[in-house]
Amino acid sequence: MNLFEYKNGELYAEHIAVKELVHEYGTPLYIYSGGTLRRHFQVFDTAFAKTSHLTCYSVKANSNLSVLKLLAEEGAGVDIVSGGELFRALRAGIDPKKIVYSGVGKKETEIREALYAGILLFNVESRQELERINQIAGQENMTANVSLRINPDVDPKTHPYISTGLRSNKFGLHIDEAMKTYLATKDMPHIRAIGMDCHIGSQLTEISPFLEALGRLKDFYGRLQQHGINIEYLDLGGGLGITYDQEEPPHPKEFADALQQSLAEMELTLIFEPGRVIAGNAGILVTEVQYVKQGEEKNFVVTDAAMNDLLRPALYHAYHRIAPVEQKKDSSMRVDVVGPICESGDYLAQDIELPRMQQKDLLAVFSAGAYGFSMSSQYNSRSRAAEILVDKGEVKVARKRETYQDLIALEE
Ligand code: LLP
Repeated sequence: MNLFEYKNGELYAEHIAVKELVHEYGTPLYIYSGGTLRRHFQVFDTAFAKTSHLTCYSVKANSNLSVLKLLAEEGAGVDIVSGGELFRALRAGIDPKKIVYSGVGKKETEIREALYAGILLFNVESRQELERINQIAGQENMTANVSLRINPDVDPKTHPYISTGLRSNKFGLHIDEAMKTYLATKDMPHIRAIGMDCHIGSQLTEISPFLEALGRLKDFYGRLQQHGINIEYLDLGGGLGITYDQEEPPHPKEFADALQQSLAEMELTLIFEPGRVIAGNAGILVTEVQYVKQGEEKNFVVTDAAMNDLLRPALYHAYHRIAPVEQKKDSSMRVDVVGPICESGDYLAQDIELPRMQQKDLLAVFSAGAYGFSMSSQYNSRSRAAEILVDKGEVKVARKRETYQDLIALEE
């Protein structure tokens, strides 16, 4: 469910016509629906109401401060992967006791910042990282809470770039190595091993890989207990998929029921790190048609949004539904929707059916709320798009459009 709907042939973001927002703020324009973000968070969170749990929204999906503030209001925790994300989360008022810190490459400064912030725990991905955290915590006279990220070697059946739980991936510790590393924590005075963690990939549309990973972690949990290591948290990461096109991912309730059934005998607090399922369908990217170009073999609709604004199609061949902001009755044509960047990979959609487009028509690119703006760049010296948040009957500029001055602000 999301609050981008057509009324009398015109696309609305909650109560307000998208066309009006464009009139005021220009294009390309990211628009987020606060009502949708709130709802997605609540649906996910309440699905686990029966179990002690923490929903830690994955900041990388959409790290806009206004989005984080809204989720903080809903009681969300967060999953961070950098000092920058920690900074944003604290600024947004996220409770540090609900912050988990993942990622394979935490720097010393980042570890120190997180310790000082008093985060709940570090998801540790290697023996060296664990030793580094122990050392820094020692220098600061602190104790660091950790979970070890276990690589369960499960195929998540998703795009290879977003699979993370396979033996061949850089993430986490192999199960045998994880056991040795847990045992090593006993001799690390500034480490408290309080959890275990895994994240097997993103945009998963089936429950079975999650259950398979959980099965392996359950076995592992039993072995940990035999070694006298008693943990309190089990973090199952993020990864639940959304509908971009025809996918039918499990509803969070279905996902929760399946997991809770399998977890019945474990008395642990669960942690989840959902990103896409919260933010993906809570945002659209609106773009204006600049040219309609009839090529020899193909027709191109050239828009003012490009791969620097939304990288997913170019990087993963990802599909995003595109439709006119004002519905048209014109006959349709097959087109590629492309941006102005000097790369053949710069497209938003390939070979799709659109009504005949005219210069200055507006197009909405759907499901752009996650990994849209957060992966954007200034490539080709293109100022980044503005971000608007529509929430509780109000329109807020969540991020101003960058100016040319912003492009060079840090340069000599
Ligand atoms: N936790 C960890 C440790 C992660 O690495 C990720 C995503 C998440 C949670 C959130 O996963 P989600 O619930 O959003 O699936 N740029 C790609 C997605 C990369 C995901 C990386 N890790 C895309 O646009 O599809």
